[in-house]
Amino acid sequence: MKIDWTPGSWREKPICQVPTYPDQDALRMAEEQIATWPPLVFAGEARALTRSLGEVCEGRGFLLQGGDCAESFAEHGADNIRDFFRVFLQMSIVLTFGASRQVVKVGRIAGQFAKPRSSDYEMRGEIELPSYRGDIINGIDFDEASRVPNPERQKMAYRQSAATLNLLRAFAQGGFSKLENVHQWMLGFVEGSPQAERYEQVAERISEAIAFMQAIGITGENNPQLRETSFYTSHEALLLGYEQALTRTDSFSGDWYATSGHMVWIGDRTRQLDHAHVEFCRGVNNPIGLKCGPSLAPDELIKLIDVLNPANTQGRLTLIARFGHDKVEQYLPKLIRTVEKEGRKVVWSCDPMHGNTISANGYKTRPFQRILSEVESFFAVHKAEGTHPGGIHVEMTGNNVTECTGGARAISNEDLSDRYHTHCDPRLNADQAVELAFKVAQLLKNDRDQVKEKNRLAASA
Ligand code: PEP
Ligand code: CO
Repeated sequence: MKIDWTPGSWREKPICQVPTYPDQDALRMAEEQIATWPPLVFAGEARALTRSLGEVCEGRGFLLQGGDCAESFAEHGADNIRDFFRVFLQMSIVLTFGASRQVVKVGRIAGQFAKPRSSDYEMRGEIELPSYRGDIINGIDFDEASRVPNPERQKMAYRQSAATLNLLRAFAQGGFSKLENVHQWMLGFVEGSPQAERYEQVAERISEAIAFMQAIGITGENNPQLRETSFYTSHEALLLGYEQALTRTDSFSGDWYATSGHMVWIGDRTRQLDHAHVEFCRGVNNPIGLKCGPSLAPDELIKLIDVLNPANTQGRLTLIARFGHDKVEQYLPKLIRTVEKEGRKVVWSCDPMHGNTISANGYKTRPFQRILSEVESFFAVHKAEGTHPGGIHVEMTGNNVTECTGGARAISNEDLSDRYHTHCDPRLNADQAVELAFKVAQLLKNDRDQVKEKNRLAASA
């Protein structure tokens, strides 16, 4: 238990990226009400995720984290959630199979509503309005009334998170995720998808393995691993009043947990050492993510690690590198070397999305080739440093959107207007997400072969 920390101690610190609520009484009342509502996730689940991430830290697993840039109230349907979950399972099966490693599955979902913005205002023509900050804060429509921060939206976000989580729990544990269903997850592939055939080959080999296991008596009945999966939720802990309302003590350990999601992260714009977001996150015992962009100096990173993970617990802290395809080689090695020299236990994950956003035809987009190139550089740097590339962090959807260009279907700048649905940043569509998973699986396989070879040489020396 931290003695100099409370769920509200962040309020004494400087803070960036806060909305200005015109009605402070209404805000306080909404937060007080949410504080009486049930937790969305449980401390024991967050601890289980920390343990699994500890395995990743040791090189025995891989973190797959992904989902919407911003969830929206408008797109809250069962089909959307199912389609996302299905593609996520497909990616994870491709990765597990390729890498022969446990994949830790963490969605950017059931709470990913608040967005940091590069500017407080948005200008269209002659009109200037407050920026859209995510559905938990204000509305996306470009009119004055929509853009006013409304605390009632926090209650909506809570209820949507609860309903989403309810369905995800059912999918993860109620039969949908049974490994035997590996072929059924195919249904999500649109006709003629370039990835469908490759996926079918993997599914076929898994089916053979299952048939073999059944023949020797290993079945879903006696093995929960074959019949269900562990799936966790995560979001950026940006709107701290909401986070505070859902921060509770665990009756078992007496420790504080953010119960809005299993894992929360600190964004690249709000990671100042003495500011509110770091203050809040240091006190909750969930696994924490920290976005690391080009402006993060190695000594600053060590100070942040001191504050966020003073006990050097493995699995507590995931560093999410997001430099841009042409900057990884310049910035990542310095951070890795410093962390290694200081003996800090972290999971290194790669967010190849946020450093690769460009503008084309009036849309924010990301070329698939640059996303891939950032991931490749991330793996290459870890190989050179002898460290473990622990995961990827992506913005993706289960739908057939046209938001990122490239990929096997070669989405062009002209195609972007066809199905550009995101409320914030451009996401990989289902096809691009699975294509990325195949590439990462190959990189992981090379990494595994390298570790094997190293062990073989060490044994024969
Ligand atoms: C995000 O993950 O949506 C985000 C805003 O990222 P970053 O803080 O890395 O810019
Ligand atoms: Co984003």
